[in-house]
Amino acid sequence: MAALDAARLGAPDPLAAVGLVPTMGALHGGHLSLIRRAAAMTTSVAVTVYVNPLQFGPGEDLARYPRDLERDVAVASEAGAHLVFAPEMEEMWPEPPATTVSVGGVGGLGRRWEGAQRPGHFEGVATIVTKLLGLAGRCHAFFGEKDFQQLAVIRRLVADLSLPVAVVGCPTVRHPDGLALSSRNAYLSADERAVAPRLYAALLAGRRAVEDGARHPGDVEQAMTAVLAGEERWALDYAAVVRPDDLSVPDTVAGELRLLAAGRLGPTRLIDNLPAASPHPEAGPHPEEP
Ligand code: PAF
Repeated sequence: MAALDAARLGAPDPLAAVGLVPTMGALHGGHLSLIRRAAAMTTSVAVTVYVNPLQFGPGEDLARYPRDLERDVAVASEAGAHLVFAPEMEEMWPEPPATTVSVGGVGGLGRRWEGAQRPGHFEGVATIVTKLLGLAGRCHAFFGEKDFQQLAVIRRLVADLSLPVAVVGCPTVRHPDGLALSSRNAYLSADERAVAPRLYAALLAGRRAVEDGARHPGDVEQAMTAVLAGEERWALDYAAVVRPDDLSVPDTVAGELRLLAAGRLGPTRLIDNLPAASPHPEAGPHPEEP
């Protein structure tokens, strides 16, 4: 556990700005962009590699989650990490934690969308992230926008618990065909990989609907689901237009928004999101209202 302190103590300046990049390993270009951003903004970059059992539900992919620590250490160092903290489970939790961090009450931030699809997932994420932030102390912590709801949950827990942490959200990195980089892409068969970018295409269709002035969230959702409707390999879990802060669905489409989509391709679950700006101002009156 002292290893994370080394990110601070091993730095040339003991008051160095620490950049924390929490990961579950299997590092790809998305993670490397977080590490590079951390290296540009802070003086001592610590990458954590820990496949957190608390955030996997029964029947999820904990056992087969890709692991290659030697490669992770090499690519993280090359991207600018000064330290890789990769504890075993027994080191992280000498005994199972009796404390759970939960963000959002019934139907709240951590319970909707991914929280509804994967009960207990965000409690697992919030608990491990709170622990990692506690170990790191005052720091900048870097998370990808790819997991947009996770980012919102972490921002909220940092604010609610007054943790001495600046959360930095970093843009999603995509393949040239639009598919967001994800460790889970490794599970896709060649056939599934070929249709995987349809999720991004659905989000683009939703963005077009928002930019074209759609007023009703259902119309935006319909524009997204239509893209995947004819694609039988895709089983869509949800496609939605939401407020970017609490991820609730607005009454009317207006202002700055986020499009969320998630679904399954065979046994693999993929999620993605995009920002979208409506031409209608947030507080503007509904055109059909008197
Ligand atoms: O995004 C991830 O890789 C994980 O959810 C995180 C933030 C490292 C917590 O285990």
